[in-house]
Amino acid sequence: MVPVNAPRKRPEDLRSHQWYGTEGLRSFSHRARTRQLGYLPEEHLGKPVVAILNTWSDINPCHAHLRDRAQAVKRGVWQAGGFPLEFPVATLSETFQKPTPMLYRNLLAMETEELLRSYPVDGAVLMGGCDKSTPALLMGAASVDLPAVFVPAGPMLPGHWRGETLGSGTDMWKYWDDRRAGLIGDCEMAELESALARSPGHCMTMGTASTLTAAAEALGVTVPGASSIPAVDSGHDRMAARAGMRIVELVHRDRRLSAVLTADAFQDAVTTVLGLGGSTNAVIHLIAMAGRAGVRLTLDDFDRTARTVPVLANVRPGGRRYLMEDFHFAGGLPGFLSRIPELLHLDRPTVCHDTYREQLAGARVHDDDVIRTRDNPVAAEGGVAVLRGNLCPDGAVIKHIAAEPRLLRHTGPAVVFDDYRTMQRTIDDPALGITADSVLVLRNAGPRGGPGMPEYGMLPIPGRLLEQGVRDMVRISDARMSGTSYGACVLHVAPESYVGGPLALVRTGDLITLDVAARSLRVEVDDAELARRRAAWTPPPARHRRGYGALYDEQVTQADTGCDFAFLARPGEVPDPYAG
Ligand code: FES
Ligand code: MG
Repeated sequence: MVPVNAPRKRPEDLRSHQWYGTEGLRSFSHRARTRQLGYLPEEHLGKPVVAILNTWSDINPCHAHLRDRAQAVKRGVWQAGGFPLEFPVATLSETFQKPTPMLYRNLLAMETEELLRSYPVDGAVLMGGCDKSTPALLMGAASVDLPAVFVPAGPMLPGHWRGETLGSGTDMWKYWDDRRAGLIGDCEMAELESALARSPGHCMTMGTASTLTAAAEALGVTVPGASSIPAVDSGHDRMAARAGMRIVELVHRDRRLSAVLTADAFQDAVTTVLGLGGSTNAVIHLIAMAGRAGVRLTLDDFDRTARTVPVLANVRPGGRRYLMEDFHFAGGLPGFLSRIPELLHLDRPTVCHDTYREQLAGARVHDDDVIRTRDNPVAAEGGVAVLRGNLCPDGAVIKHIAAEPRLLRHTGPAVVFDDYRTMQRTIDDPALGITADSVLVLRNAGPRGGPGMPEYGMLPIPGRLLEQGVRDMVRISDARMSGTSYGACVLHVAPESYVGGPLALVRTGDLITLDVAARSLRVEVDDAELARRRAAWTPPPARHRRGYGALYDEQVTQADTGCDFAFLARPGEVPDPYAG
């Protein structure tokens, strides 16, 4: 840890001093209103004000414990001589928010940025973990560039059912397919309903939540080892208290996020998510987060890195067996990173240490089956491949380690669905003539077409084929896929069909070739015919004519650049408000 005798800020150098410490009516009013809150002057004046941004909500089971956990953060802040103030912010519940919380990631990022800027805040503790909440909080905080520590919500406990260990999400898809195939019935489903998610905390597979909180730890914005601590473990309280203590020191040292969120840090986060076999969603979010930190990160960085990083985390769905609690007790992220030190930049600072090398001192792996050795990886290459070709000129991604290998080089006739509802309604219709060799195509599910790029990318396999034992097919869309999903699903096709990307021009019966080794995705239709189809194409109607949806539609960027809002991704400073 950074020594506690680090240079300390004089009270008048704190940002919050403009609100509390100056002469004049405004400052008097701010002090009077703090008395109204019940605080004595000596409890807060001259101390770093720490905003605790809490994404707790009654509707969000992944963050159900964060209301309580904020008390541990406050304890840490008080102990270290700071003044904690909790701010409830938007909750992005992956389960409940429709059409997808991705539509609202940038809204939480804006809220984060504007709250931190407009209030007397010297440093922030960001509490979240359910999928998009991690990138949203960090994007907003990076734009303000105050000192900040991220407190990951932590994974829920593993599920248990009839002697099996259940992964939320992953096993939900699996058993739903089993039910559609007639292998299990209503009794089993009723039991599963109570068994899949058994405690507060985010999904405990290596889904989007675990991937993104691990990325946050790899970036260096958490307490070491924080990302895998189970949500309900007493260690999670201690980690939260530690985060509260750290933020006060970071304010005194003026170690802002920009000192931590460097190009090297993002490169290491890419290495980490690939070596974990993590969620494809991390590609979009890391590109967006890097953009806010002024770091240029591209799809090619992921593909290039993937070829050098073995997958060592044997955690479902990419790995075979284990869940996040196993990963935690096998050594967690520090243990995992200790297996790949030469692939990392270890001289960069974190929120807790002057170098990542110090942060990893003593880290080790306690179970070589959960966190594999380099000579016995889960997969020889990182979990994500970036495809290009006439169907995706700006790129597409596939999590090939979660697909049946026979499909990684495949040519088949397209069966095209124009939207998700039609697909849901008709997928089981025998008249479509879908075979195991067909290539299922879904369009109008991208950033603007979805809108919000919903996680529709694991298109369902027709029931008839499931009954025959087919469990994977090539599927292509401009959607995303849940981090807990699997299969030969080509995702994030850019540009999306809604804006006239080539996916909009595909017709049922066209042959499509996927070749992951060659990183290629093509529709076997010549350019002249594609040009004819383009000339006949008309854009679909706007999804939203007013409100936030209209702002989103105007501003959201394509998947390959992170789906941030153009006006938020733009460089340039926003001035501090006048407070005195
Ligand atoms: Fe919240 Fe999976 S539903 S992390
Ligand atoms: Mg998810």
